[in-house]
Amino acid sequence: GLQLSQRHFMNTADLPQQEIQALIDLALSLKHGEVKPSLAGKTLATLFFNPSVRTRVSFATAMFKLGGQALDLSMEGAWSFEFGDGVVMDGATIEHVKEVAPVLSRYCDGLAIRCSELVTKSAASASAGSWQNARQDLVLNSFARYATVPVINMESNVYHPCQGLGDAVTIKEQLGQPQGKKYVLTWAYHPKALPMATPNSQMLAACDLGMNVTLAYPEGWDLDPEIVKMASQRAKQSGGSLQIEHDMDTALEGAHIVCAKSWGALQYYGNWEAEKALRVQHKDWMVTQAKMQHTDNGRLMHCLPVRRNVEVGDDVLDSPTSIVIDEAENRLWAQMALLATLL
Ligand code: CP
Repeated sequence: GLQLSQRHFMNTADLPQQEIQALIDLALSLKHGEVKPSLAGKTLATLFFNPSVRTRVSFATAMFKLGGQALDLSMEGAWSFEFGDGVVMDGATIEHVKEVAPVLSRYCDGLAIRCSELVTKSAASASAGSWQNARQDLVLNSFARYATVPVINMESNVYHPCQGLGDAVTIKEQLGQPQGKKYVLTWAYHPKALPMATPNSQMLAACDLGMNVTLAYPEGWDLDPEIVKMASQRAKQSGGSLQIEHDMDTALEGAHIVCAKSWGALQYYGNWEAEKALRVQHKDWMVTQAKMQHTDNGRLMHCLPVRRNVEVGDDVLDSPTSIVIDEAENRLWAQMALLATLL
């Protein structure tokens, strides 16, 4: 069977590209019923510090289909956790990851964590304008450090690798041979800024497939330059390329895959009023059927949930051009491949 070089799954880019390809192939084999690995008797604890529909249900179903079980530990609002090494004597902290992670590791065979601190904590305490802050994954890294079983990132501040892997499965399924095809990750208007975990992982996944990737966004809405650099290097390794384009029509020219995603401008993160004015200026970045005319029979992807007629128009979402439901389904098969391999 497939073995990964990493014990944890924090970021797709921690893995060599051939391991990502092998996971994609395994996911498609699972989907086609060609292999039936078993996780009988195994338990995955899923800890959600933020809400989820797709990730929650697809992980629970993945474990069930593999003969094991998932335990849904909803931690939304549970910030009386101490995540680092510190001993807190303030009487407010009731659990420390230093104990919780090894204890859960005695009961369970894997821990999956969703914790985007930037979403959960107030915008003010997320300290707007700091790249440094957005690069931290304090909670996830703390679990990874103290767990003695594999830890899976179900979306942190920085990465959403299960979305990236699921999207890679969908692209391979749709295009057959993605290498050399054009993938556009296009920024879209959204009334409230979000962190960049999902676009980071979507960009990395397309680069690992050897696609010619274009990041399309208005000036000033850059993704983390360090992560863009990493993605560009991985694109080169796989025979692809990465470029940035600030004109939407030009970016969409000849695209085979269009992935719509809203993300925030970190220099304004948490300052919704400042961001809102800027976003309203760029409302025309919504993906519409007229915009899709520039593509080469391009298909529309979106991680969901989608803000209809804000990020993507009904005319695209409700047309055969949209593959967003396949994309959501493939989270299941991608995660089954990951679980069967890691656990
Ligand atoms: N795309 C995604 O991760 O969806 P959820 O937030 O509902 O899990």
